[in-house]
Amino acid sequence: MDDAFIPMSKPYIGREEIEAVTRVLESGWITTGPVCQEFEGQFARLTGAGYGLSLTSGTAGMHLIFKALGISKGDEVITPSMTFVSTVNQIVMAGAKPVFADIDYGTLLIDPAGVERLITKRTKAIIPVHFAGAPADMDPIEEAAGKIPIIEDAAHAIGTSYKGRHIGCRNLAVFSFHPIKNITTGEGGMVTGNDGDLMKRLRLLKFHGIERDAWKRYGKASDPSYDITEPGFKYNMTDIQAALGVVQMKKLVEINEKRARIAGKYIEALSPLSGIDLPASPAYDHVHSWHLFVVKLRSVDRRRFMEALAEHNIGYGLHFPACHTLSYVKKICGQVHLPATEEAADRILSLPLYPGMDESQVQRVIDVVGKVAG
Ligand SMILES: Cc1ncc(COP(=O)(O)O)c(C=O)c1O
Repeated sequence: MDDAFIPMSKPYIGREEIEAVTRVLESGWITTGPVCQEFEGQFARLTGAGYGLSLTSGTAGMHLIFKALGISKGDEVITPSMTFVSTVNQIVMAGAKPVFADIDYGTLLIDPAGVERLITKRTKAIIPVHFAGAPADMDPIEEAAGKIPIIEDAAHAIGTSYKGRHIGCRNLAVFSFHPIKNITTGEGGMVTGNDGDLMKRLRLLKFHGIERDAWKRYGKASDPSYDITEPGFKYNMTDIQAALGVVQMKKLVEINEKRARIAGKYIEALSPLSGIDLPASPAYDHVHSWHLFVVKLRSVDRRRFMEALAEHNIGYGLHFPACHTLSYVKKICGQVHLPATEEAADRILSLPLYPGMDESQVQRVIDVVGKVAG
């Protein structure tokens, strides 16, 4: 029997991606250019948003949005603690205070009622996370937010829909193309939005404050001059990355079908086990992108569980250590009590899930989990 290592995640890259990247490398223009533009168009069409803005990472997208919204000292930003620390880092580095909302233990999604209770005069933004590929319950969050900007953390939500519409069509949203995400550009991110002026500002902030992309300034008979009205960053995606993204987008349906099939097998095989809780399904109409498969260990010690997986050459992940328990965050925020987040944080573990996993690999994971958590 093949007992080769099964990683937690693996990008789904084929000849088409390699050829697309090669074409860009041979084209003479490898940084931000027409391929980024094509990728942005594809992404706007997928999400139904008016605009897409390709970037070096999701984190860069969050940074640009904070700048554009003027989030700074004295402001509060509401986010779940059960998220990747990049968001919390951005809040803190902007000089604002992270205010942590608790989650639903079953779905690991932000609790809308909790969000409402945390809103104050200082709340400058709300950042729900579409955790593991399941959509947060946006209707009550938007109702509670009123005019407070919502930034949807859609890093896990490529292919996720909420009540019939893809994530990213309602509010500003930030996607990630880090290698473990549903589609990848090596590293990369995309902001989607509908406010043309704001998106234009983000585009300026993305590249030094220069109003036109370099490829438009260096083309035949083009005008190489520029003016700067506001200083910006250097967060532009390259055409090399976008070439990967354009091909990956064409495979998104296939990729997410494969992910859903594996998740379905896990659910079928693991739901009788008494030692673990499987991800609960949100009660509202949705499409899950199955970015992650996060189980919660009920009666099994997590250390022992990880050791058993490692002994059988199976990888795993931890998404995520609760942000409010990280040392520097504790110093800033003091004692915060989030019962569901804390209970989940001690018990979660992400099982391998990626489109290239074959039946026997899925079965190996099921067998080992069954042995330890049965
Ligand atoms: C929930 C969440 N938010 C934000 C990010 C940041 O994305 P990036 O790595 O592209 O900066 C990630 C990436 O892992 C994430 O999982």
